[in-house]
Amino acid sequence: MKILVIYASIHHGNTKKIADTIHKELGGKLISFTEVSKEEVLEADLVGFGSGIYMAKFHKGLIKFVSSLPKVRNKKAFIFSTAGMTQNIFLNRGHKNIRKILNEKGFQIIDEFDCLGYDSFGPLKVFGGVNKGRPDKTDLEEARKFAKKLKNNQEKVAD
Ligand SMILES: Cc1cc2nc3c(=O)[nH]c(=O)nc-3n(C[C@H](O)[C@H](O)[C@H](O)COP(=O)(O)O)c2cc1C
Repeated sequence: MKILVIYASIHHGNTKKIADTIHKELGGKLISFTEVSKEEVLEADLVGFGSGIYMAKFHKGLIKFVSSLPKVRNKKAFIFSTAGMTQNIFLNRGHKNIRKILNEKGFQIIDEFDCLGYDSFGPLKVFGGVNKGRPDKTDLEEARKFAKKLKNNQEKVAD
């Protein structure tokens, strides 16, 4: 089982912290969206797509990359993000776009994770930002549990 974890984390490295934690538990290869190649995605069985939420969406560059992929078969994906505002009250709005594109490309999305991240974008900077220290220890533990669940599910499928 080849695993690839791709991330975009341009604001405070919040999503990178989640990506690191997931990668540590799950294994495989961890790579930035600026470095990943289509071939690496096409060779993987399970691909994680993670990003900060910028203007209610995943990073443009990551969306562009995913949009440029050919249609795939028998590939699983998971989505993860960090955001300034909780995604729950917005029905996970920040994942909507990437979820749609991944579905169109033929990926089977098996799970999703999101948590708050330190945000000092725009006017928030004046007040020192919101969600200082997030993702924190508890968030990282939740991310680890999320990855462990993914791992256990993959092992069950392989049995
Ligand atoms: C340009 C920009 C736009 C943002 N737009 C949103 C948004 O629409 N909704 C939200 O909840 N957070 C928004 N944020 C906050 C980020 O999602 C949050 O800080 C996230 O944890 C950043 O992840 P990163 O450090 O991995 O880049 C925005 C931040 C930036 C810099």
